[in-house]
Amino acid sequence: MASATAPTQRQPAAAAEERQAIAAMAFIADSVAQGRVSADLFNMTLGKANVREGSVATALAINDWPRDLDLLVVDLADAADPVADAAALKTAVPGNCVVIGIGQINDVALYRDLMAVGFSDYLALPLAEGVVGRAAERAFEMRERGGGVTAGAAAKDAAPRTLAVIGSRGGVGATTVAIAVAGLLGNRLKEEVLLIDFDLHYGSLMLALDLEAIDALREALDQPDRIDALFIRQVAQRKTEYLYAIGAEEAPTGGFQARPHAASDFLRSVHRRFRWVVVDVPRGDPVIQRQVIEASTDVLLVTDLSLPGVRDAMRLQQLVHDVAPGARLHLATSGMVEARRSAVKVADVERTLSRKVDCQIPADLPAALAAVNLGKPVSEAAPNSGIVKSLKPFVSTLDEPAALASSSAGPAGALLRFARSFKGRKAKK
Ligand SMILES: Nc1ncnc2c1ncn2[C@@H]1O[C@H](COP(=O)(O)OP(=O)(O)OP(=O)(O)O)[C@@H](O)[C@H]1O
Ligand SMILES: [Mg+2]
Repeated sequence: MASATAPTQRQPAAAAEERQAIAAMAFIADSVAQGRVSADLFNMTLGKANVREGSVATALAINDWPRDLDLLVVDLADAADPVADAAALKTAVPGNCVVIGIGQINDVALYRDLMAVGFSDYLALPLAEGVVGRAAERAFEMRERGGGVTAGAAAKDAAPRTLAVIGSRGGVGATTVAIAVAGLLGNRLKEEVLLIDFDLHYGSLMLALDLEAIDALREALDQPDRIDALFIRQVAQRKTEYLYAIGAEEAPTGGFQARPHAASDFLRSVHRRFRWVVVDVPRGDPVIQRQVIEASTDVLLVTDLSLPGVRDAMRLQQLVHDVAPGARLHLATSGMVEARRSAVKVADVERTLSRKVDCQIPADLPAALAAVNLGKPVSEAAPNSGIVKSLKPFVSTLDEPAALASSSAGPAGALLRFARSFKGRKAKK
């Protein structure tokens, strides 16, 4: 009786029959390991595995991966930078493919780094009999359970997203909002989110998070070929479990003219490591501003409730419409003046920009101060504040697949009409 009902370990071959036609490849330099990997893979694929002599370098030279590739086993033994190579390889193979590394180094830090770039397992040599098959089975089960190849892998397969946060005027709270949105988004998705402050001279994002500004951002914008997975790992500073940030502090005297496409090249590279990137966009640098908007899938315009704020929100709305017609445009009102005391009302903003305000962020000085004093996102420093409550519903819709342009530019005469009625209203008072 016991033997009839006892749970039995599933054998790789039986599992392969259930699943049918696994496509598997391997690149192995070590001859003993090659024998072990071949035995397991042939077992799992019913003899159809493609096992070659080689290593991660050989694998990286391949341009055309089979689209149905399920499993790749790769020897990292001769890689100078195994994590960088692993990250590059993971982005090259089909998103759903389980990748398992093998190598000489038996080190938990390396193991963690490989998991972080999307590998499913790493096995140190020498390989015991059947160990590769069991590791692959575990990874397939994880994938089938919906946990993905690694935590967050389902998300990794989704398209990269860049949210550009732009204030219509100085001091409207754009940096505060960018940090809070990135913090809330990372916690919600359980996925690492990168914040970038593209104001190389006067950015305040790193200061707000008590993190060190670095020179490397400018270098990276000058020489995008230098950006690889290792570089990003070194320069992105971790603030919380899911929040990383990059920012510079160039000397005010140092001029900087970004090369064409510098921001989009940089963003493309960091997306190898981070699916979601939130950018604090400088208003004072039209070149970088335009480049970031062009490269963004989402733009959040933050305006205060003032006439100049609304005017500039309208001009920025037009800019987004012109240079990134496919981007999703979101609109928030913020600022240090309470809405009911503001000269301009939310309804005025909506009428003038011919669209709804997605998020009305209240003035909340104690919460903003707590964030500054603690060097943390306001979502952590004051999680129950009005600022955070107003941002949460917005953040919960942010990860929906990017749809095509919902951004409509306001009619050209709208601001003029609004400004006239606004002044008329004031005159009557
Ligand atoms: N909702 C809010 N209520 C009260 N104070 C706020 C709010 N949001 C931000 N602040 C405060 O306003 C100041 C400016 O905020 P922040 O730096 O986020 O604005 P910004 O638009 O990024 O400014 P800049 O133009 O300098 O980049 C900070 O002192 C911040 O703490
Ligand atoms: Mg700012």
